[in-house]
Amino acid sequence: MAIQEIDLRHANDGELRVVGVHEDGSEELVDVAVGSVIEATSSLDPAAAVDVEQIAADPTDVPPPIDRDEPTEHDVTLRVEEVTAEIEPGVTFDFLTFEGQVPGPMIRVREGDTVSLTVESPSDSSLPHNVDLHAVYGTGGGSAATMTPPGGASDVEFRCEYSGAFIYHCAVPMLDYHISAGMFGMILVEPAEGLPPVDREFYLGQHEVYTKGDAGEEGHHAFDFDAMVDERPTYVLFNGEKQGYASGNRGPLSASVGETARVYMVNGGPNLTSSFHPIGNVWSELYRSGDLVSDPARNVETTGVPPGCAVVGDMDLPVPETIKFVDHALSRVVHKGLLAELEVTGPENPDVFDPDPN
Ligand code: CU
Ligand code: CU
Repeated sequence: MAIQEIDLRHANDGELRVVGVHEDGSEELVDVAVGSVIEATSSLDPAAAVDVEQIAADPTDVPPPIDRDEPTEHDVTLRVEEVTAEIEPGVTFDFLTFEGQVPGPMIRVREGDTVSLTVESPSDSSLPHNVDLHAVYGTGGGSAATMTPPGGASDVEFRCEYSGAFIYHCAVPMLDYHISAGMFGMILVEPAEGLPPVDREFYLGQHEVYTKGDAGEEGHHAFDFDAMVDERPTYVLFNGEKQGYASGNRGPLSASVGETARVYMVNGGPNLTSSFHPIGNVWSELYRSGDLVSDPARNVETTGVPPGCAVVGDMDLPVPETIKFVDHALSRVVHKGLLAELEVTGPENPDVFDPDPN
């Protein structure tokens, strides 16, 4: 039977096969002579103009610890900003954000506090947005009450009845897309008695970005819905940038020998569980899943942080070193951009660690 048309099929081994399609729909494999090398060309549009120079939230931008014995009231506004920004130099992406940063601002309150939350969206937004806060008793964590069209504003009021570290995120019908594009952050509800003091506090947000390009491919990366459904991200990132706070980019975070450091990490996902680990250190006190009520776990190497969850980890810093924060699913670090570093400077402490014993 004559071949009517030529088509391409994905074989189970991942190879692309050329097939001839017969009149009756049956197919046969076509032998294709390999005679010429086709130059690989990028299918991406050129990198777009950016709206913000930096999409990464500054990890040191953490509200101060609560120093209060009585509840209070807070007015919090989260402004929607749909912005184009670089994931890494030459790679642009259209982010959906709260306040033009990833993750959104950390909200810090005390158990028993009341929050009046306003969501505002500029008129040039392309989509409706809202907020679901896991710290809230109420329908959708406030998402229905805060549904906000372009050019609109909405508000909700809630009392924080239970303490912990929680995610907040956009929760419109395509919420997996909105979170992947950047719409998540942390609300920390401190217990009435507060948290043990530490010298430094840092705020990181992990999430996956699904694009039609490859990691590192220069150009404008359009969102890839099929890749998201398949849970096959192009990038897995802290704070929306490839190695944003590491030596190759904006530089590491800093602390001194002898200090204590606390990391607040929220995993937006939308799909991947983080195996969160500090290379060269340990979570000496770990508030698993953001649970600030139970006694913390001790000396934990790696902790699972599923999508839609936060964690709080404390570290001692007895020696000078560069601590690398990673997801121990390390292909995400080696190939997909995930890394943050903490440079600890100060005197050597050879009893604990001697990098050059002779
Ligand atoms: Cu949204
Ligand atoms: Cu949620």
